[in-house]
Amino acid sequence: MADNSHSLLSAKNLYKSFGGIKAVDNASIEVPKGSITGLIGPNGAGKTTLFNLLSNFIRPDSGEIVFDGEPIQQLQPHQIAQQGMVRTFQVARVLSRLSVMENMLLATQQQSGENFWNVWFHPGRVLKEERSQRERASEILESVGLSHMAQEYAGALSGGQRKLLEIARALMVQPKLILLDEPAAGVNPTLINKICEHIVQWNREGLSFLVIEHNMDVIMSLCDRVWVLAEGRNLASGTPTEVQKNTQVLEAYLGQ
Ligand SMILES: Nc1ncnc2c1ncn2[C@@H]1O[C@H](COP(=O)(O)OP(=O)(O)OP(=O)(O)O)[C@@H](O)[C@H]1O
Ligand SMILES: [Mg+2]
Repeated sequence: MADNSHSLLSAKNLYKSFGGIKAVDNASIEVPKGSITGLIGPNGAGKTTLFNLLSNFIRPDSGEIVFDGEPIQQLQPHQIAQQGMVRTFQVARVLSRLSVMENMLLATQQQSGENFWNVWFHPGRVLKEERSQRERASEILESVGLSHMAQEYAGALSGGQRKLLEIARALMVQPKLILLDEPAAGVNPTLINKICEHIVQWNREGLSFLVIEHNMDVIMSLCDRVWVLAEGRNLASGTPTEVQKNTQVLEAYLGQ
């Protein structure tokens, strides 16, 4: 069980080395329920690797991860998604040759349509489920302003729209927590503002976020609390203002 009942995600003493490189070196992080928590640090600090560990895309050498009161180290990424934690990627992973709608529908891997026996014995149920997934996808696309692109190839989207599609797709599984890896990178300022507004709105509706971002305006405007990594280790954590004033943090950024 989590030692902190307010904590939705809690990772302690995570280690991961690649050959001689200690990418994550005894790092810990907490994401309180209902928060937008930030994760910052210089290039190569280990932020994406920490996301990979939290979502179990790679296994830690050691450490423990508790999500929503349950240890999750033994689970596969899709099982973690079923528990309510999904992540996006630094370089958006959308399937360019599929339509935007198809990308959305692929997110719900667990729909019964994937199961042969369900298709055979319960065709009505499968069709109904597909219909409701399609409706949900349409609603989400509408809410993020991508419905006019629903039938276009995802490859036709701009970099920013791809980031938005990735987040929209994450919402398909009705998660409790979304890990966003640089949602503002390579996105134009107008779309960055829109993405931030959506994040704030979803957060008001009860969704929690852990956000990696180099854009400090985004971190300052969104986050309740920020964790700073440098060389794989925890350097500081606090409110965005506290962290911004922290001399060790400033030195870590200047030293890169
Ligand atoms: N699969 C891998 N194999 C070997 N080294 C890796 C691997 N993944 C990450 N690293 C190394 O681990 C360190 C941390 O990388 P990581 O991508 O986690 O940093 P980051 O904080 O996300 O950086 P950025 O802000 O540039 O995205 C780097 O030195 C990187 O080269
Ligand atoms: Mg990264």
